[in-house]
Amino acid sequence: MALKKCFRQVAARANENSLVMQAIVLVGGEGTRLRPLTYGTPKPMVPIVNVPFLARTMERLYAADIRDVILAAGYMPQAIVDYFGDGSRLGLKVTYAIEETPLGTAGALKNVEEHITGPFFVLNGDILTSLDLPAMRQYHQRKGGIGTLHLIRVDDPSPFGCVVHDESGKVSAFIEKPPKGEEPTNEINAGTYLLEREILNYIPAGRKVSIEHETFPQVIAAGKALYAYTTDDYWLDLGRPEQYLAAHRDVLSGMMPLLVELGISGEGKEVLQGHPGIVPPVHAAGDVVVDASARVGPNVVLGESCSIGADAVIRESVLWDRVSVGSGAVIEHSILASRVTVGPKARVGAGSVIGHDVSVEPGATIEPGSRLGSPP
Ligand code: GDD
Ligand code: MG
Repeated sequence: MALKKCFRQVAARANENSLVMQAIVLVGGEGTRLRPLTYGTPKPMVPIVNVPFLARTMERLYAADIRDVILAAGYMPQAIVDYFGDGSRLGLKVTYAIEETPLGTAGALKNVEEHITGPFFVLNGDILTSLDLPAMRQYHQRKGGIGTLHLIRVDDPSPFGCVVHDESGKVSAFIEKPPKGEEPTNEINAGTYLLEREILNYIPAGRKVSIEHETFPQVIAAGKALYAYTTDDYWLDLGRPEQYLAAHRDVLSGMMPLLVELGISGEGKEVLQGHPGIVPPVHAAGDVVVDASARVGPNVVLGESCSIGADAVIRESVLWDRVSVGSGAVIEHSILASRVTVGPKARVGAGSVIGHDVSVEPGATIEPGSRLGSPP
């Protein structure tokens, strides 16, 4: 009898787990706030410590026992398809839904209705977080609403979706990007949802629909229960250059756990170890060349085959692959996309973002906060 009961519990648990085996990742945005980086690379493929951000997200999904992932893409989808293929390399089944014109954050879900078999996670594709997805799944199952929204508390809620809820967690209002000073709460939509299939009935087909502006408010108005799941996890929206650099600082310092060694790390670490000019943390991919008189760090990431000339100084910056920095050049608090060339003695001022293939002339001064690079 006891054995039978135990078996039933195990079976029920397996069943609960198998209920949520799908995730839809929203990766259709144009990444306008990350231009010029996103002229050459779609936002989900922008590297975080030398690995495309979406690959990091896929690893999180795998770790949460999710094996069936739908990528709702639109902008520059080929780079995504080329990298992930059918997903088997990561142990996942990946299905693509490419939108000819953007369908919005809810329209993208309606568009893949035929592939959705049960409750499903939805992830905004630009969020770096330590959120425990299985814990959120358990919370959702306990609450039993039509959906659960991950929330976090922030100092400035106005650029986000503000979510008001009662003590039981039941959501009473969802207000997307309220004007500054009119925010009803500091708890914001953190961009991870667990939704029941039924919510698709609230999304009209064949047109652009925003889950934030339309679907969530309508579901609440219809008296359906959406629950808030507020945590104090590490959380960052990578959508802007300052946040992109902050994410790197946080990963390199270990504040955001991401399987990156602390100190000097990466395939190129042999080149850096024992080098007198390295100030950790610094991460370097393979085939990097760093002159013995260069100074690199702290908080610097060098992509594959980067070369750093004599007396060059690089601080608090992320260089993608094949960036070449001439002798005596100085780069601070900046992001340089693939194949950028910085001429000898050039200075790249803090907060600059330089797009793919741009050449900075020898001796040039790039003013702080510059954006260099144009659409291909
Ligand atoms: N497939 C598809 N189609 N994806 C889209 C579309 C679309 O038409 N539009 C946007 N996305 C994707 C983006 O690629 C991104 O991953 C995600 O949806 C959210 O879009 P963002 O443009 O990054 O929105 P946001 O950052 O201004 O606001 C959203 O995220 C905040 C948290 O970072 C909202 O969900 C807010 O409520 C939330 O607080
Ligand atoms: Mg965003």
